[in-house]
Amino acid sequence: MTRFTAVDIIHQKRAGQPLSAAQIDWIVHAFTTGEVADEQMAALAMAIYFQGMEIAEIAQWTSAMIASGDTMDFSTLENPTVDKHSTGGVGDNITLMLAPLVAVFDVAVPQLSGRGLGHTGGTLDKLEAIPGWRATLTTAEMLTQLGQIGAVICAAGAGLAPADKKLYALRDITGTVDAVALIASSIMSKKIAEGTGALVLDVKVGAGAFMKTPERARELAETMCELGRQANLPTTALLTDMSQPLGSAAGNALEVATAVEILAGGGPADTRQLTIELAQEMLRLAGKTDVDVAAALDDGRAMDKWRAMIAAQGGDADAPLPKARHRHTITAPTSGYISQLDALAVGEAAWRLGAGRAKPGDAIQAEAGVQIHAKVGDYLRAGSALFTLHTQTPERFESAIARLHEAVNITDTAPPPAVLIHERIRR
Ligand code: URA
Repeated sequence: MTRFTAVDIIHQKRAGQPLSAAQIDWIVHAFTTGEVADEQMAALAMAIYFQGMEIAEIAQWTSAMIASGDTMDFSTLENPTVDKHSTGGVGDNITLMLAPLVAVFDVAVPQLSGRGLGHTGGTLDKLEAIPGWRATLTTAEMLTQLGQIGAVICAAGAGLAPADKKLYALRDITGTVDAVALIASSIMSKKIAEGTGALVLDVKVGAGAFMKTPERARELAETMCELGRQANLPTTALLTDMSQPLGSAAGNALEVATAVEILAGGGPADTRQLTIELAQEMLRLAGKTDVDVAAALDDGRAMDKWRAMIAAQGGDADAPLPKARHRHTITAPTSGYISQLDALAVGEAAWRLGAGRAKPGDAIQAEAGVQIHAKVGDYLRAGSALFTLHTQTPERFESAIARLHEAVNITDTAPPPAVLIHERIRR
């Protein structure tokens, strides 16, 4: 591999010039091995944040991160594989229902997931609220479960795109997370290395998302779809709303409870609709267009898959979920329509109650979180319940309540109807 100098590469990008393939391969490799120091990579990430990268550079960066570690192979499975990735939001528990639902139709879903950081929850943290459930599987266990049940949600092994793991940790503490080039290459390197046969992206847009505007979300989605196309990974994206939280809860055990409601054919209307839309999109990519997805939620087939998936990883789907010792209800101060319900504020309130962590490795409370009793467009009478707060540590109530008071706007007139799916991107 040709050697370069990190400082020259930083200067070049800082001046807005594209990097060559050889430069990108070298710096990603040298950063992974420790030859390039964290502060140099942080400076380069900041230069990329301000100057961006061309699509050829992003594709090369993605390949270099894939090459830093292992790749997986699902080609021995009988059924096609399709995965979904969400860019993260408040109350977004869709993966829990989606994996078993899609598996009902003989499509395997290898869902390598992560833990939450900051105001967005992590799928593994949610599932760990189920007594006995185990996040870590060997590759052999994962393949067996995919073959037998068709759905796996587990921790991504440390060997997959280690360059991304190291870079993500650095971006997190240097204000360089929300750069399109870096997010797109981070997500797609892991998905391509994982070896899924097709991919559906749920790109969140709004106050509770990385991407606050539809324009930025579209740019991210189109970049990721193009990276997928160049890597022969059929990829499509939905731009979905994260101005208000999804569903009726933010918090680990609370979101598992909502997932079980959806799998039983009920649950919040927006969560059910998005689950069905994403499942249809995944099945379409797997060549299955003539299927009734909603029926599998209503007739118990998705629930049966869920129970099998949880049991295969040591979980007891019948065990009661942990419940918080302390609760507090916030009521509407006046009568009117909810015209705004800020997803970021609800996510941060759940975090303040103990549902999330401030840094990797912090302990979390499975029981903590916020139940949401009304959504944008609902009419409420003064005194009716808006939120119920759950925690094991009541001294946390005060700051969570303060954050939730900033979350809601109540008006005399009805707001325009809330939009759940803003756009579909299929290349
Ligand atoms: N999720 C990722 O995996 N990477 C990012 O950069 C942002 C969200």
